Amino acid sequence: MSTQRVFRLPSKGAGYEAIQEHTEPIPQAQAHEVVIKIHATTLNYRDLAIAKGFYPFPVKENAVPLSDIAGTIHALGPNVTTLTKGDKVIANFDISNTFGPQQDWLHGLGGPIDGALQQYIALPASAIIKIPEKTPLTYPHLASLVCTGTTAWNALYGSGHPLKPGQTVLSLGTGGVSMTGLLLAHAAGARTIITSSSDEKLSIAREKYGADFGVNYTTTPNWADAVNEYTSGEGVDIIFENGGSGTIAQSLSCVARGGQIAIIGFLSSASQEDMPDVAGAVLGKGCSVRGINVGSKQLTEDLVRFACARGLGVHVERTYGFERGEVLRAFGDLERGAVGKIAIEIP
Ligand SMILES: NC(=O)c1ccc[n+]([C@@H]2O[C@H](COP(=O)([O-])OP(=O)(O)OC[C@H]3O[C@@H](n4cnc5c(N)ncnc54)[C@H](OP(=O)(O)O)[C@@H]3O)[C@@H](O)[C@H]2O)c1
Repeated sequence: MSTQRVFRLPSKGAGYEAIQEHTEPIPQAQAHEVVIKIHATTLNYRDLAIAKGFYPFPVKENAVPLSDIAGTIHALGPNVTTLTKGDKVIANFDISNTFGPQQDWLHGLGGPIDGALQQYIALPASAIIKIPEKTPLTYPHLASLVCTGTTAWNALYGSGHPLKPGQTVLSLGTGGVSMTGLLLAHAAGARTIITSSSDEKLSIAREKYGADFGVNYTTTPNWADAVNEYTSGEGVDIIFENGGSGTIAQSLSCVARGGQIAIIGFLSSASQEDMPDVAGAVLGKGCSVRGINVGSKQLTEDLVRFACARGLGVHVERTYGFERGEVLRAFGDLERGAVGKIAIEIP
């Protein structure tokens, strides 16, 4: 077989219904590249933002959507010595970000460069992370480590103040970032709190993933008060701030003295008049507020070691096939709000 099936989005903002299937050549590996046979991908809120046009960073025309690649090495360029045909691998979200901060917004898979919604992809060997052979994690679990997984790991371990056992971690919502944050923080011995608009989703977070406390942010709009009460007024050491300007006031009100707020998402917005005095609140509590840009390959490698050693697979709510209708249904599920991840398996 020298051709493959590839899905492309004609342009940013075209809507996910505009995604079309194409038949294209399987790429060849250049000297320092590998070709990956992709086995699974997972969807992220970013993919919806790109398709609907409110993603704030560059996206190329006719891009192959989705960032999360999990597969096996199909072919190697002549200068690649660190990988072998058949190795189980994932690719880093930003293929140029080996360590340290992300340098620009031009190298993220599934936006400025082609991504995972295809059967094969050629990538620099330097962007590839080898998975331990005996991992209990499935390909959808492995794909989940790429974007939301590394983001959650970065929030917990990417600063100079990594999570310590016994600290308290708060995740906003039950999407991919939050559920991964819950899974990792629970496994690392933290006390965990999660919010959701749904009591049913809170039950899953508590019963299957060990959340110690859950608050419904719809029926308890002042959810920070409930968090402060639960922590006996001490507040939370690390917050996964997925809401953005619409939730930052409450996050500042329930972060602990010296705690950290990881600014991750933009799921809700507040007008300028409703924004709190962030500088004053941060000064008052001696806390820190840090923007997260997914994370480097080095962070992803640390995450892979922990997740594979401990068999930590984030909740995959549903897995779809590699037909156009299935792809559109996967986007529809993402839009409705799944618990954890939505996956697509690629034959
Ligand atoms: N900075 C980065 O590097 C980075 C990386 C990955 C993701 N992100 C961003 O992080 C956010 C989450 O991404 P994701 O992929 O995890 O999304 P997702 O899987 O689509 O999860 C969305 C969930 O967030 C919850 N939510 C929606 N509005 C909320 C609000 N006002 N307060 C609290 N929770 C709310 C909902 O959970 P319930 O249904 O339980 O209410 C919803 O199901 C997005 O904004 C995304 O763009 C940023």
